[in-house]
Amino acid sequence: MKISVLGVGYLGAVHAASMAEIGHEVIGLDIDAARIAALAAGDAPFHEPGFPELLRRGLDSGRLRFTTDYAELAEVDVHFLGLGTPQRADGFGADLTAVHAAVDALAAVLPARDGAPTLVVGKSTVPAGTARDLATRLSALPGVSLLWNPEFLREGFAVQDTLAPDRLVYGVADPGTDAAAAEVALLDAVYAPILAAGMPRLVMGYEAAELVKVSANAFLATKISFINAISELCEATGADVTDVARAIGLDDRIGPKFLRAGVGFGGGCLPKDIRAFIASAEDLGVGPALGFLREVDAVNQRRRVRMVEIAREMLGSLAGRRITVLGAAFKPDSDDVRDSPALEVASRLLAAGAQVTITDPEALANATRRVEGLIAEPDTAQALRGAELVLLLTEWREYRDLEPSEAARLVAAPRIIDGRTVLDLPAWRAAGWDVRALGRGTARPGAGGAAAAEPELEPARLPAHA
Ligand code: UDX
Repeated sequence: MKISVLGVGYLGAVHAASMAEIGHEVIGLDIDAARIAALAAGDAPFHEPGFPELLRRGLDSGRLRFTTDYAELAEVDVHFLGLGTPQRADGFGADLTAVHAAVDALAAVLPARDGAPTLVVGKSTVPAGTARDLATRLSALPGVSLLWNPEFLREGFAVQDTLAPDRLVYGVADPGTDAAAAEVALLDAVYAPILAAGMPRLVMGYEAAELVKVSANAFLATKISFINAISELCEATGADVTDVARAIGLDDRIGPKFLRAGVGFGGGCLPKDIRAFIASAEDLGVGPALGFLREVDAVNQRRRVRMVEIAREMLGSLAGRRITVLGAAFKPDSDDVRDSPALEVASRLLAAGAQVTITDPEALANATRRVEGLIAEPDTAQALRGAELVLLLTEWREYRDLEPSEAARLVAAPRIIDGRTVLDLPAWRAAGWDVRALGRGTARPGAGGAAAAEPELEPARLPAHA
């Protein structure tokens, strides 16, 4: 089938290459000419395991190409919308400018199809109500209909999540009608090889499909902040949050996943999606329903502040101290630093006057583009050399596997804070390290219940939502 993908950012680029992989003729479109040129030349603009090979295979097969020109989409049967919906500059809501602009530009070329059945498929994360608005705008064009098919891909697993998702969700204007059946059949034909592997496919109304996506992300964020709130209790009582997480996770109603305590969630999705969800509930007049998500966000922000407090507790004063941050990406196996907890902590330490060296296997260039003043050092051993304090903030395998006595020989003083609850604390202590870890017995005598201290620093000025 002839397919287009509008917006070839993370989601769109992976989707376009995946659709070519399963045999379709695909055109990826973006207004960013540099990105289009890079993709057309086979250069992946981000780090994603398996994607460069997929892109190369698509280009070599002749089934995948890229353009900036909407006129080239006139013959396409199915258009996917993969545009970004970042947080608005003036509040919590989602900025839908790119989605609206793409739909308008697409609508201008669709009449060339002369009424031939054309399906527009939304994949972007949008507030409930967006699909119905867009469908109304497209309804003036004969043969054109809209289906909402949210994407659940995780960075680092994007190819696998696209080609073998847990489920496919189809949102239609009116489930059960002939029109809906025709739209579903068309998208089923696109996804035939994926559906043949037995993936569950759920058909529902537009609003439910939109809500599935944001609800899933809100649930995941809530689960992480739940265990991080328990971390605060652990710090106040001297308990170890990994003991609590392991034990509650064995209840199969709770489950062990997304219960890893630490410096919290970041990235291009969870933080902005929960904020957009809060804004959307308020717009719908049901703000109190999602009031708890403000606390989910607040718990997450407090963990970042807490890291800096522990650093200050260990060093006395931060000004002029040499601190090494292990990790800049918001999670391992990614070069994405959007709303990265690691980068925000590094920037807060910098703001407090510390001399901060940061290292990361993939995200250093992105990190230093966003935060000025950090010393970027790609080599881990070199980054550790001379440090008075080390913070582990992104749990890359390389940092988890550090050998404590070898690392001790490199630093100026063996002090480390484990911000991802991944280190074997007794082994590090046995090698002479002064170790603190979020949520793991960091209670101070007389600390009482006041684990959730007020932020001492202004929030770092990070352009968190690119
Ligand atoms: C997320 C959703 O998982 C995905 O379904 C959606 O489509 C997009 O948003 P992603 O942003 O790639 O995907 O990251 P994810 O793997 O979910 O991790 C999000 C953040 O939570 C990371 O910063 C990670 O370090 C943190 N996290 C995750 C924890 O702090 N603890 C955990 O137990 C799990």
